[in-house]
Amino acid sequence: MEVRFSTFGEKLTAQSGILQLMDDLGKALRAEGPVYMLGGGNPAKIPQVVQFFRERLQALAQDEARFLRAFTDYAEPQGLGEFREALARLFRERYGWPIGPENVVLTNGSQNAFALLFNLLAGPASDGRFRKILLPVLPEYIGYADTGWVPDIFLAMKPTIELLDAPFYKYHVDLSRLPDHEEVAAVCVSRPTNPTGNVLTEEELDALAQWSRERGVPFIIDNAYGAPFPSILFTDAEPYWDEHVVLALSLSKVGLPGVRTGIILAPEPIARALARMNAIFALAPASVGPGLVLDLVRSGEILELGPRWIQPYYRAKRDRALEWLEEFMGDVPYRVHLPEGTFFLWVWFPELPISAQELYQRLKARRVLVVPGQYFFPGLQAPWDHQHQCLRINFAGPEEVVREGLRRLARLVREVHKAGEKAVAVS
Ligand SMILES: Cc1ncc(COP(=O)(O)O)c(C=O)c1O
Repeated sequence: MEVRFSTFGEKLTAQSGILQLMDDLGKALRAEGPVYMLGGGNPAKIPQVVQFFRERLQALAQDEARFLRAFTDYAEPQGLGEFREALARLFRERYGWPIGPENVVLTNGSQNAFALLFNLLAGPASDGRFRKILLPVLPEYIGYADTGWVPDIFLAMKPTIELLDAPFYKYHVDLSRLPDHEEVAAVCVSRPTNPTGNVLTEEELDALAQWSRERGVPFIIDNAYGAPFPSILFTDAEPYWDEHVVLALSLSKVGLPGVRTGIILAPEPIARALARMNAIFALAPASVGPGLVLDLVRSGEILELGPRWIQPYYRAKRDRALEWLEEFMGDVPYRVHLPEGTFFLWVWFPELPISAQELYQRLKARRVLVVPGQYFFPGLQAPWDHQHQCLRINFAGPEEVVREGLRRLARLVREVHKAGEKAVAVS
């Protein structure tokens, strides 16, 4: 059937990038034989965490009132009231943030929240301006890229690069080049950053918070991996809040991506607008995730899961992945972004004679799946070689998978360098 789509529908169906990649990853996984999966964003199945939530679910099923509430009622559009109360109280008491349940809104995963939030703020406005979401430091989360209902909703900045002791390096916000504010609807950063594992410094956060506060625009902090939960952090980073901050949390990287629970802390007008969008797009957000963790929020135990199980687990995995990378790479020129959080390594091959996309294709033929770097540059204004020299590697998988995947990656990169292939056109 020939379908006539709206402009948005046309944009959606014309998109190739991430949708094609996801398709590709899915197909490769279904193929026969072993696959070394270092792509995708799935968190690990940490045995203690899985067991812990299995027991919580059994307890929930046994508790008539809580079970009925979580499974048999539509929540209000802003999300399960008792959960929002408990979360606001927890953050008020622990961190002194002046927030109430009216500042909390739940969504069906935080990805959903970003798609709603970006379109709520960016795009054409009644004053005739077209405002954009400022991503002050690329590379940035792949999931933002295709969220706009109209094209071109991002304004993104190249980072500065600090070379550290080999093999490490770190991206920084180029604070001297923040753009003309008239165009900016909001500032958004993921911290720790997917794909790089970067944790923006306190100084960078303070500067961005001040810049956005002075211009009266929200500062969105995507805390999918950060403090206070899930705390997949290998450096000190306190939870950050200010009156114009929109803090996005999620139960996914705590270990529950299947319950699709996003938790947004926001100034009241934004929380109310998101609730309206919930009502339009979903009637109400799901209550199963919030119902499952309600007691943990009331008692504060939700804050302990990271330090107790999640952070040590990923830290050990990160350390092993770095050791293997070093062992297998030998003298191949490579760098890794300083892995300060998340479960990704962002590997940069500064002298790679082929593009990361070509490397991805050849790796796939050797049954190793990674994500090529170019997808993590939404809103980039001009082509940049760097985006074709990097790969994202998920090290959350089983040890033998990660080790063998890295071994095959290193062997291929060494072969490509030896062959001295001519650099391909990448832009
Ligand atoms: C930085 C970042 N933000 C947001 C999300 C969305 O997560 P969810 O929709 O599962 O809450 C992800 C998922 O991988 C992520 O990496």
